[in-house]
Amino acid sequence: MPISSASLRSKLPKVGTTIFTTMSALANAEGAINLSQGFPDFNCSPRLIELVNQAMKEGHNQYAPMPGLMSLREQIAIKTEELYGSQYHPETEITVTAGATQAIFTAIAASVNEGDEVILFTPAYDCYEPAIELVGGKPIYIQLKTPDYRINWEEVKKVINHRTKMIILNTPHNPTGSILNAEDFTQLEKLLDNSDILVLSDEVYEHIIFDGNEHQSIARFPELAKRSFIVSSFGKTYHTTGWKIGYCLAPAELMQEFRKTHQYNVFTVNTPAQKAYADYLQLKEEYLGLSAFYESKRNLFQSYLNGSRFKLGYAAGTYFQLLDYSAITDEKDTDFAVRLTKEFKVASIPISVFYNQAIDNKVLRFCFAKENRTLEESAEILHKV
Ligand SMILES: Cc1ncc(COP(=O)(O)O)c(C=O)c1O
Repeated sequence: MPISSASLRSKLPKVGTTIFTTMSALANAEGAINLSQGFPDFNCSPRLIELVNQAMKEGHNQYAPMPGLMSLREQIAIKTEELYGSQYHPETEITVTAGATQAIFTAIAASVNEGDEVILFTPAYDCYEPAIELVGGKPIYIQLKTPDYRINWEEVKKVINHRTKMIILNTPHNPTGSILNAEDFTQLEKLLDNSDILVLSDEVYEHIIFDGNEHQSIARFPELAKRSFIVSSFGKTYHTTGWKIGYCLAPAELMQEFRKTHQYNVFTVNTPAQKAYADYLQLKEEYLGLSAFYESKRNLFQSYLNGSRFKLGYAAGTYFQLLDYSAITDEKDTDFAVRLTKEFKVASIPISVFYNQAIDNKVLRFCFAKENRTLEESAEILHKV
């Protein structure tokens, strides 16, 4: 291909290859155990695969309706009502998306205008900021403080002004594993009372929450749900991150705008997988048992790490464990993550990359959505560090 003479002014000049791609590539090149990127190293349920197969054989191979297969939207509505006591109408208030990432992008693109401010909490999952910037919005960052990474609502109050369009929440939280509780939502409700501020609630780890805690979906709080886009992901719930299917819930007025963008960006997503999820969602024990499944992996990983020089962060949800290495070295977290991968053959993600400024608390994120023997092997290595 000849060098292009067309010139293009980047809309995202700061964006390069993501840390997830970089660390996974390094892990592969170095033959390291990859606890960096957030995906399981075990397979999804064979039944789910059979259901996709069956859907294909039965001829579910053409475009699904733009908002998603009705049978899937109905199952999502049932699950949401049973778990959170809130009713979303499958016809007008639920849309199936190409993963949560697309739902997040679409919610932002549909509602944030040039110059609007969007509040997000750092360390933050990496797809929010570029979406805000692409549509001309301005990210306003609030830092979650170590070690428990809770939101200080007084700080939020201080940055809210007439330009604030949206607040982005994420519970259970990637990368820290912290969760929001009912009191957080009560405080948010007070703050947003009498405003038009929208909320985008990223709840992709809604079924991965530990120690008897219940997931506090924003759907449980009617005054907040009225102004919220809620996003979830079947990839996280069913060990199928590669299928890239998620969904968005929102009141009809918001969903109408969401769908205008969705319609011309994606139109509709993979039909046989939607059909399979619609059937599989009826097996409630699958998603209801997910927290216990991952809690035992978390406990195992933590017990394997006992006595190492890493300090465990409190992992309340998600499949990530933070490890503080300040007792080992004062190297930058990005350098240490690379050295761990190259010298010790365990790959992780440095937490500093989830901030908008240079903040290095000497903490790395490890994904424990892995076979138990993988967790044991990596912990054995970490003991030697
Ligand atoms: C907090 C958070 N939101 C959204 C996503 C994206 O989900 P999906 O793979 O369904 O696009 C992820 C994936 O890691 C995530 O951790």
